[in-house]
Amino acid sequence: MADFNELPAHVWPRNAQRQEDGEVTIAGVPLSEIAEEFGTPVMVFDEDDFRSRCRDMADAFGGADRVHYASKAFLSKRIARWVNEEGLALDVASLGELQIALAAEFPAERITVHGNNKSARFLQACVDAKVGHVVIDSADELQLLDLVAAKAQHVQPVLIRVTPGVDAHTHEFIATSHEDQKFGISLATGDAFEAAKACLRAENLTLVGLHCHVGSQVFDAEGFKLAAERVMGLYSQIHNELDYTLQEIDLGGGYGIPYTAYESPLDIKAVSQDLLSAVARTAEELGITPPTVLVEPGRALVGAAAVTVYEVGVIKDVTTGDAETPQRRYVAVDGGMSDNIRPALYGAEYDARIINRYTDGEEIPTRIVGSHCESGDILIDNVQLPNDVKAGDFLATAATGAYSYSMGSRYNAAVRPAVVAVRAGMIKPMLRRETLDDLLSLEVD
Ligand code: LLP
Repeated sequence: MADFNELPAHVWPRNAQRQEDGEVTIAGVPLSEIAEEFGTPVMVFDEDDFRSRCRDMADAFGGADRVHYASKAFLSKRIARWVNEEGLALDVASLGELQIALAAEFPAERITVHGNNKSARFLQACVDAKVGHVVIDSADELQLLDLVAAKAQHVQPVLIRVTPGVDAHTHEFIATSHEDQKFGISLATGDAFEAAKACLRAENLTLVGLHCHVGSQVFDAEGFKLAAERVMGLYSQIHNELDYTLQEIDLGGGYGIPYTAYESPLDIKAVSQDLLSAVARTAEELGITPPTVLVEPGRALVGAAAVTVYEVGVIKDVTTGDAETPQRRYVAVDGGMSDNIRPALYGAEYDARIINRYTDGEEIPTRIVGSHCESGDILIDNVQLPNDVKAGDFLATAATGAYSYSMGSRYNAAVRPAVVAVRAGMIKPMLRRETLDDLLSLEVD
């Protein structure tokens, strides 16, 4: 059996290490020191981990500006500044995300805007800020954006989001490329081609490319490739029938990451080679220079960069009546589905370790649960945890950087955790913990 004290390197941040005294440090900072200073739960980002993954991705796709960080995975001003410093572009998918990016002085010309139901107000803000790209998600939006841009006397560069009809083999809630869902304009019905024609007619839009996104937490490299080939089919049709050559193909994000010791990482380099050669092949057939390939990963850049540290509270043992696991220990921590809804929503699994000391207890079937009033408030459904875990220990779940804080809630009037970054032995606070006063500040008496 694997040693519970070991941190699986492909799941934990690149600069996480268990020291001789049993303490886990990230970039040299002991996690329990952060827990004591900032309280628990607390999220800790390994800045160099994030930056190094940005560089790896830039390397795989041939340039930092070709990689758009999908900020829905996690956004704060500080991370927007890191993305800017690394030379990446940024995707936003709401007015709020746009505001945070602009507040961080992220250059608007490197911002791409998504959303299936962008309001006139949101589109107005995009045009006013002069964002680099708006990704048009529907025929209705095309008309609305043209009007908004005309009023501002602006010509807005756009991409058209197409649904290539590929089954992404991921959780149904996060698959976005099949026909029967809300995103994008269908390729198969010819609607996407019609949208391209409408874009070329629209006076205040410039069509620069096509976009697709297969889904999220995808490991199936074939799905990415098939989608790219189909999008390139439309690219050729536009070239041949409309005599118009697009400059960019945005193939979306979705690269899966391992969350547990038993999963393996996706070979991004191999995927990028597949995608780049699929695009190059079509360009060669057409006898033209290949368009620039853009990608927009969120999870693959930020997922493994953070851990969430909790304090252990109540422990109880139950008899399950189940022959396979007759006894189970419940270990409750001081967070839960408000700071990480992914296990409850998608059945997601995580790796958890005690981070303030070595443990040498016998490993027993354990369920790690939160503190919310719901029995589905489970962080890890079934894990072998040493039986010496006790109240007051600090327990951390790894790979919580993507879609945990950003999908957080205030269920049970919980306050959102503090978020800090660490680098070279230094702690840099990113977001302060919410307070009870923050909760009360919304009340209208
Ligand atoms: N581009 C578009 C158009 C997207 O919709 C998304 C994610 C991304 C890029 C980034 O995908 P990533 O590389 O992070 O997989 N809440 C779910 C994930 C939802 C993803 C939504 N769109 C989860 O926790 O697994």
